[in-house]
Amino acid sequence: MKKKIEIKNLKVSYGSKVVIKDLSLDIYQNEVIAIIGPANSGKSSLLRCLNRMTDFNNEVKVEGSVLLDGQNIYEEEDSTFLRRRVGMVSPLPVGLPMTIQENVTYAPRMAGCKNKAELDFILEDCLKKAALWDEVKDRLHTLATKLSGGQQQRLTIARALSHHPEVLCLDEFSIAIDPVTTMKIESVLHELKKDMTIVMVTNVINQAKRLGDRTAMMLNGEILDLDENSKLFNGQTKDSRTKDYIEGLFG
Ligand SMILES: Nc1ncnc2c1ncn2[C@@H]1O[C@H](COP(=O)(O)OP(=O)(O)O)[C@@H](O)[C@H]1O
Ligand SMILES: [Mg+2]
Repeated sequence: MKKKIEIKNLKVSYGSKVVIKDLSLDIYQNEVIAIIGPANSGKSSLLRCLNRMTDFNNEVKVEGSVLLDGQNIYEEEDSTFLRRRVGMVSPLPVGLPMTIQENVTYAPRMAGCKNKAELDFILEDCLKKAALWDEVKDRLHTLATKLSGGQQQRLTIARALSHHPEVLCLDEFSIAIDPVTTMKIESVLHELKKDMTIVMVTNVINQAKRLGDRTAMMLNGEILDLDENSKLFNGQTKDSRTKDYIEGLFG
């Protein structure tokens, strides 16, 4: 299996507070890897290192390396290109103050696409994949900020897909979405992994179980356990705290 991302001896700190300690993890191409663990374990901090979202925060210090296809992303010049290759869906929706149509076609337009038919295709395709098309197809020119929280969340998924990312990072994507819509998006993610790698932070154990090929359990900035779902969710954990967490005994 090809390694898409190699995280080596990653250390993340905010000021003097170390939140990820010497973490190493290989992520394989076309897998869905789920990351679970109680709040404040460092899940979001880890995810943000994968496309250098950390650049936007002066307080954060990242040590170690993150390789994408063998290249250290922290040594690359072009972080905009990196973020096209590694898309991110944040837990709280941030619809850009533009119309629905403009939100989804923003990245392709920035990348130089001017062809209306092509942009329309991307718009419909990405909104369908994000299970939002039916709800917005008659008002593509209204402001995204007028959508409900759950709809804005799905819009951020559509926007992330519009880049054709090689890696899609999802941070608790279903937090503001109803179960029926969540299931629709989950089935899309299942399809998408045929041509991308998905790194999914979730606080829903069953979501990790349903979607992940492998699952990593994080606690206090460390990976306690990492294994194929068929093992991890069948009692084969290395650390008893993983089993307790999966069974809902803490967290
Ligand atoms: N921007 C930030 N500035 C300072 N501390 C932060 C910041 N983001 C996260 N932290 C701290 O880092 C730790 C890990 O947080 P986070 O990565 O959000 O964990 P999780 O996603 O597992 O809840 C927490 O103690 C949190 O308070
Ligand atoms: Mg988080």
